[in-house]
Amino acid sequence: MQPTTVTLDDGRTVRLRNRRRDDAEALYEMYSSMSKDTQRWTMSPITRERIERWLSQEEQVFAIVATSDDRIVGHSAFFMHDYPRLKGIADLGIQIHQDFQGVGLGTAMTEICIREAKESELHRLSLEVVAENEAAIHLYDKLGFVKEGLKRDAFFGQDGKYHDLVVMGQILD
Ligand SMILES: CC(C)(COP(=O)(O)OP(=O)(O)OC[C@H]1O[C@@H](n2cnc3c(N)ncnc32)[C@H](O)[C@@H]1OP(=O)(O)O)[C@@H](O)C(=O)NCCC(=O)NCCS
Repeated sequence: MQPTTVTLDDGRTVRLRNRRRDDAEALYEMYSSMSKDTQRWTMSPITRERIERWLSQEEQVFAIVATSDDRIVGHSAFFMHDYPRLKGIADLGIQIHQDFQGVGLGTAMTEICIREAKESELHRLSLEVVAENEAAIHLYDKLGFVKEGLKRDAFFGQDGKYHDLVVMGQILD
């Protein structure tokens, strides 16, 4: 995507651009400064090794970041499977730092991912979200994802309990 500036609902601006190979440290800073609440329904902790793995998968990934000054404050990506039987199917993820939640950034970044997936002629975007993650489910529902099913006890929470995952999907063509 072309880098673009977005004005958030509270008047602040962030820059959106493609993720780069040299974003590793800034991504680590973002993930390691996330509050417990923000991390609650994510695959935390996000280690440097995991970030390196993400960055090494460039060919199968479309990924964008939101920056404010020199910080990364939002990260969204979809991963395109390369099995022939999963042709055109990708998995979406998004994380917004707590300092920038609730002001439209998640909406803006998810919309860009959906637009890019359509332009790349993908067939389907999939995701899984913890059933209690109401903010994320609201966002996905608003942007056209449909609840397709439930995976029971498929996420082991920080609370030491298992939680259900909602499977959501959007057919793009
Ligand atoms: C979920 C998340 C991506 C949403 O991003 P965001 O930038 O805060 O979302 P936005 O500001 O664009 O708001 C999206 C909508 O969610 C709504 N929302 C916010 N908190 C909510 C809540 N607790 N319950 C229901 N809806 C909520 C907003 O009102 C807004 O709705 P509207 O556009 O109809 O007014 C973000 O909160 C986040 O990164 N959370 C932690 C990581 C995470 O859970 N990622 C998803 C894993 S599947």
